[in-house]
Amino acid sequence: MHLLPVLPVIFIAAVFCSPMPVPCTPVSARSQSLRSSSFSVALETLQKHLNYDFQNIGLLRRAMTHSSYSEENNKALSILGESIIETTASLRLLTKDVDISSKDLNNRVSEISKVETSCAVDGMRLGLQNVVRVSSNTNSSTSSVVCGAFRAIFGAVALDTGKSDDAGDVFWVVHGGAGSALSM
Ligand SMILES: *[C@@H]1O[C@H](CO)[C@@H](O)[C@H](O)[C@H]1NC(C)=O
Repeated sequence: MHLLPVLPVIFIAAVFCSPMPVPCTPVSARSQSLRSSSFSVALETLQKHLNYDFQNIGLLRRAMTHSSYSEENNKALSILGESIIETTASLRLLTKDVDISSKDLNNRVSEISKVETSCAVDGMRLGLQNVVRVSSNTNSSTSSVVCGAFRAIFGAVALDTGKSDDAGDVFWVVHGGAGSALSM
C-alpha cells in the first residue's frame, strides 16, 4: 500500500532521466505537424463540449474543414446537418403541442436553424471559428463559415452512428444547454 504513491514519482524520474530525443525533422515538416497536432487537440476539446465521442474522428475533422481549405470539406455534411436540425426541432415542437399551427411551426423551426440568429450563435459559443480550417484569405468568423461547420457536426454524428436521431439529440443538448430562449 505504501508503495503506491511513490510509483508515479519513480515514473516521472525515469522519464526525466532518459535522454531527450534530438529533433531531426526539417523545420517545415515540424511546423506542419505542430499545426495538425493543435487541430487534433481542438477536435478532442470539441468532442468534450459536444459530449459525444466520435468512433471515426475523420468525420469531425471533415466537419471542421471549410471548402476554401480542401476538396475534402464539410459542405455536404452541412446539408445533412441542417435537415437534422429541422427534423429534430419539428419533432420536439409537435411532441410538445400537436395542435401547433403550421405557421408557428414553420417560424419556430426556421428560428432554430437560421444562420444569423441561431446557428452561428451556437457555433460561436462552441468556439468553432477557432477550430474550423479555412484558406488563408477566408475569415473563419463569418456567420456562413461558423454555421456551415456547426451544421456539419450533426451530419458527421449521424454518419458516425448511422442514426440521424442520435445527431438530433446531440444538437438539442448543444442548442438548449446554453439556456437559449428557444430551448424547451
Ligand atoms: C471576420 O468576420 C467577423 C464577423 O463577420 C468580423 O467581425 C471581423 O472583423 C472579420 N475579420 C476580418 C479580419 O475581416
